[in-house]
Amino acid sequence: MLREELATLREEALARLGEIADTGALEAWRVEYLGRRGKLTQVLRGIGRLPPEERPAVGRLANALKEELEAALATRQARLEAEAVNRALLEERLDVTLPGRPPEVGHLHLSTQTLRKMYAIFAEMGFQIVEGPEVETDEYNFQLLNMPPHHPARDMWSTFYIDETRLLRTHTSPGQIRVMREFRPEPIRVILPGKCYRYEAVTARSEFMFHQVEGLAIGHHITMADLKGVLIAFARKMYGEERQVRFRCSHFPFTEPSVELDIDCILCGGEGCRVCKYSGWVEILGAGMVHPVVLENGGYDPSVFSGFAFGFGVERPAMMLHRIDDIRLFFANDLRFLQQF
Ligand code: PHE
Repeated sequence: MLREELATLREEALARLGEIADTGALEAWRVEYLGRRGKLTQVLRGIGRLPPEERPAVGRLANALKEELEAALATRQARLEAEAVNRALLEERLDVTLPGRPPEVGHLHLSTQTLRKMYAIFAEMGFQIVEGPEVETDEYNFQLLNMPPHHPARDMWSTFYIDETRLLRTHTSPGQIRVMREFRPEPIRVILPGKCYRYEAVTARSEFMFHQVEGLAIGHHITMADLKGVLIAFARKMYGEERQVRFRCSHFPFTEPSVELDIDCILCGGEGCRVCKYSGWVEILGAGMVHPVVLENGGYDPSVFSGFAFGFGVERPAMMLHRIDDIRLFFANDLRFLQQF
């Protein structure tokens, strides 16, 4: 009688266990069959009512069933847990056959590329590259360039002052004095590239920080013809061999005489357009023969030495060459812009 009950119980318990699909239901199953008030325990209680000679055999059977059910429970539990892990893996499945994302390689900034093109042109003509400090003194940026305090020409360069005597250089020209004092009494042929700063409103045409390249040549018998030869060669190498150039009279306190160099507009070929303000010409640089006072400030005797100097911006020419209509794009660090060059 009890043996049959055990057999039925076994079948029922195993069948129910086989249907269980979540671990919560497993615990309910355990309580129902193996718990202190569970069905197996109930059966075991009946053993006491059996004739003594039958008790050991039935007891063994009952214990064996208990062990079998416990083992089945453990197996089922392990199986359900493994299935849960598999489901999670399937949900976050990776397609390992997808092509990888190549790491992006950076490149030189457009300003640097333009600068290097300029260096190469002047290197061919024998110019060395020298760099000066971006934090300059009022003395080098203005006074030694023939602009004493309150000189009206200072208005051409709105200045970021750091304190009474120091400022962010407004042009690369203070490098002229530094180079002269360093090279004296040897002849000089250098370019001085670098960042300059002006205390001005930022617009599509002007930034408060930009690059310039200064040029300086000093020696015996250097004339305006040398200046013209070098600058015409530069303009044609930089902007195209077919370029027309013209020199206009100008004024800078540190050169005498002073000129500005125009090229025919490379966008409209001189027809007139927005870039050249419908004049057909675009100004590309300022230049002149080094002023005797500046030669003296640099330690060169103006009765023995003469020289020429020039200075031009870097971003504006790059804008013209690549048809960029807003200088702010250069330093906004937007890769969609920078990647185009
Ligand atoms: N420093 C001048 C400027 O910033 C350019 C210049 C350089 C002119 C050298 C003459 C000689 O505008």
